[in-house]
Amino acid sequence: MTRFDRLPGTRDFYPDEMRIRRWIEDRWREVALRYGFEEYDAPVIEPLGLFTDKSGEEIVEQIYSFVDRGDRHIALRPEMTPSLARMVAARSQGLSKPIKWFSIPRLFRYERPQRGRFREFWQLNLDILGVAGVEADAEIMAAGVDALRACGLNADDFELRYSDRRLLDAFLAEAGVEEPEPWVYTVLDKIPRFGIKPALESFVKGGIPADSAERIADLQMIDRDEFMGLPNLGEHRDRMAQLRSYLDAYGVGDFCRFDPGVVRGLAYYTGVVFEMYDRKGELRAICGGGRYDDLLENVGGQTLPAAGFGLGEAVLIELLEARDRLPAPSSRCEVFVIPVSADDRRAAIEVLTQLRGAGIAGDLALTDQSVAKALKRAAQASARAAILIGERERKGGHLTFRELDTGNETTLSVEQIIARLIYGTPA
Ligand code: HAM
Repeated sequence: MTRFDRLPGTRDFYPDEMRIRRWIEDRWREVALRYGFEEYDAPVIEPLGLFTDKSGEEIVEQIYSFVDRGDRHIALRPEMTPSLARMVAARSQGLSKPIKWFSIPRLFRYERPQRGRFREFWQLNLDILGVAGVEADAEIMAAGVDALRACGLNADDFELRYSDRRLLDAFLAEAGVEEPEPWVYTVLDKIPRFGIKPALESFVKGGIPADSAERIADLQMIDRDEFMGLPNLGEHRDRMAQLRSYLDAYGVGDFCRFDPGVVRGLAYYTGVVFEMYDRKGELRAICGGGRYDDLLENVGGQTLPAAGFGLGEAVLIELLEARDRLPAPSSRCEVFVIPVSADDRRAAIEVLTQLRGAGIAGDLALTDQSVAKALKRAAQASARAAILIGERERKGGHLTFRELDTGNETTLSVEQIIARLIYGTPA
């Protein structure tokens, strides 16, 4: 018999892991809705060209792609932003602005599997389209911080580092690199991970003079004040000050730090860019995002300024685990109904059906077993209570209600049990 294993870089979510993923997604969804974002989704398969044209070198190298039976070149989506742009571009006239949408997509990238990096993963994506100013950047950055705070992390655990591609462009221009092509950002973005040497080689190979290459490869070393003191920054410097004051007003100032070294590898960013990292610097980025004002036009829509981020669940789980903050959400089964003997099964099903009808999550033993064994099963299911139904209960119309944490038993009617489980008080 052939045994099949999981593919490298994929994960099985057994119920224990699945409960954690759902717990995270529930918190993300709650924050997104609290900030006034609406949920959307798109197909997992998209035309390959949507990404090869728009995403930039690094992601393109990692795309899962195939030719379908209709000879179409198809990609499993590696990110959500081009799909969002495609959707909005197709209807942009009819959608009222600003558009504030969020999604929790399943994504695929053929990456080398490592801590917090997989070939199949999920992200919270949160984007605002139709606002050109830093008001939108500040709103999404605050929501990003809150999406992590809602998962129990605080300013000692993570920080958000931000910069602006327009500042970076001014720095590059000063170093003699005018209107850089997208690959320059990708190479700069990789320096913290792979070091300066391969970057210098790529710059020189790409035609950047050696002295300019040396200067721009130094970006990670440059002092913040030196960077901000560059002569040609003008309005960009003011914009950063305004962004900072909004971040403070949102109450997320302690989480956020201006860092000229934030570049972002993706091709479509045009303005403010940011990333979130664990404070100890042990893990790869938890979140990345920024402004992409040209993407909508590039996918055939009207010009529409846009900004957003992608926050990955995989690194977040790593971080929660490393800080001993991983929750142990219990299953939702509230009550376990136990027929004392096979003759009591019908009555047990009827009681359970009444409870479920009242919105209470309940379960029952599906095979005939001893009461002791069934009580054990109820405890495993983290049920709050068990209801025992035997001949006495069937005939008397009152059931034995057993609280599982104390072992207390009371005799109650179904109505009284429902009241107690819903309101927590004796009826
Ligand atoms: P990204 O930087 O490619 O940006 O991904 C954002 C986050 O997704 C990363 O910081 C990381 O947490 C997670 N992530 C990326 N790749 C993997 C992987 N292989 N395994 C696990 N997690 C991963 C984007 O995707 C942009 N589309 C974000 C965006 C939205 N920009 C504007 N709107």
